[in-house]
Amino acid sequence: MLLFLDTANLDEIREIAAWGVLDGITTNPSLVGKEKQDFKKLVQEICKIVSGPVSAEVVATDPEGMIREGRDIAKWAPNVIVKCPLTPAGLQACSTLSKDGIKVNVTLCFSTNQALLAARAGAYFVSPFVGRLDDINQDGIGLIEEISAMFAVQSIDTKVLAASIRNPVHITKAALAGADICTMPHKVFKQLVSHPLTDKGVESFLADWAKAKDSVGAIAAK
Ligand code: E4P
Repeated sequence: MLLFLDTANLDEIREIAAWGVLDGITTNPSLVGKEKQDFKKLVQEICKIVSGPVSAEVVATDPEGMIREGRDIAKWAPNVIVKCPLTPAGLQACSTLSKDGIKVNVTLCFSTNQALLAARAGAYFVSPFVGRLDDINQDGIGLIEEISAMFAVQSIDTKVLAASIRNPVHITKAALAGADICTMPHKVFKQLVSHPLTDKGVESFLADWAKAKDSVGAIAAK
């Protein structure tokens, strides 16, 4: 399962990109709005930092507007992916853009049948929202599992991108449920690496090394 960051913040992106494990970025209008920067310039900057797919969402609600915005966004960088919502207009836009050879991430997916529609419209990614389903007492990870199973049975190429991730447990469960990609906030990405026993282990190894360093240094120098 590939690991994406769900943010438009350049500092957050640079920090995680430096680890060498960042496969791509997803943004949405709420995340871009927080950065108070020109949308196109920001996406182009992100696309320079991360060589993997970077999703940028259309804001029009009619098919013609989405197609116009999508065609424009697709020219911003070679690794940009156009994001369209899972509405009838979004499906129409996805279908047209995909036929043009533009990669589309169909977002705001909350059911298996919606995911099937996105796939039929030629989506490159479909993004089921795990956390927002959990928030209303539905099973977000169960949805990832069902869509992944359906795509496998039907030999559908559209990639399942688990989105709206709230915690590290979601990441493990999304991977086990068959997600191709998981996108997560910066805070959750940092939680993936952190373990108190790792910190304690590094601390005790270094303390032991400091105590022994004269003797081990002498041996190593021989
Ligand atoms: C996905 O591409 C979305 O940007 C995102 O995961 C939404 O998550 P939220 O429910 O935390 O807003």
